[in-house]
Amino acid sequence: MPDIRGVVELARRNGVALGHFNIADLVLLKGVLSAAKELQVPVIVGASEGERQFMGVRQLAAHVRSLREESDLPVFLNADHTHTLDSAMEAAKAGFDSVVFDASALPFEQNARQTKQAVGALKAVNPSIVVEGEIGNIGTGSEIHELATDLSQYLTTPEEAKQFVAYTGVDVLAPAVGNMHGMSQKMVEGETKKRLDIRRISEISTTTGVPLTLHGGSGTDDEDLRQAIAAGVSIVHINTELRVAWRNGLEAGLGAQAHQVVPYKILPFAVESVKQVALERLRLFNHLGHVAAGRKTA
Ligand code: G3H
Ligand code: ZN
Repeated sequence: MPDIRGVVELARRNGVALGHFNIADLVLLKGVLSAAKELQVPVIVGASEGERQFMGVRQLAAHVRSLREESDLPVFLNADHTHTLDSAMEAAKAGFDSVVFDASALPFEQNARQTKQAVGALKAVNPSIVVEGEIGNIGTGSEIHELATDLSQYLTTPEEAKQFVAYTGVDVLAPAVGNMHGMSQKMVEGETKKRLDIRRISEISTTTGVPLTLHGGSGTDDEDLRQAIAAGVSIVHINTELRVAWRNGLEAGLGAQAHQVVPYKILPFAVESVKQVALERLRLFNHLGHVAAGRKTA
């Protein structure tokens, strides 16, 4: 089985991106894996500190490991948005393939210092672990926000990106390039889309020379995502779109069976709803086009 580093490099060379989907329960995990299986593409499942706390760090690692052993598909596990060295180390020791060390709320120098220290400590536990660092401000919370905040003053510059990567030794960089965490209600309804600064992505990719991750992928314009991937984004994070699908599917499962109490008769509705969103995003990230009436259209 290839490791995450090799798969990210391959994606970069092929001009595609790995889908990274956050999970907080087995419904989300099943939906995401079933989409990846159907398309036969590698996938990253991620869990933030809150999501890990809910599922259990070692329990989640063991579950994903057993699914990986059973399938022939590269499935990787990422410790998403990790704010302390302790919780990063806990994930690395549990066997996570990658860690997003996120000290981006701190001033640039402090962020760089802490991230460099984390890179050293994590690689001492597992030399092949992939460590991602973050700079800029893309907001917090994979949920529905009342309004989309204007974060344009916090965009990452190619110079600071270059300096950060060279100093910290991160394998992957997550910059602020027009992306933001979460969705506004208008985005959920499809009325507005997040737009990306493609030229900035391309410059950051060239000056740093490392693969880039796009966080806050939910609600982003499809064509912008295609161009961002062509410009150097090798991993795209999606969370809020899945959470919306999870809730809608759950409501459909409950609504369709008024007196049903059997979880495995209700939850498949949510699994299917999550799967459809993951399928759609994975097709786009991997240039697989859409299958309409059994025929590939792009
Ligand atoms: O790390 C998680 C992602 O960046 C998800 O962002 O909720 O806007 O898709 P999103
Ligand atoms: Zn994120």
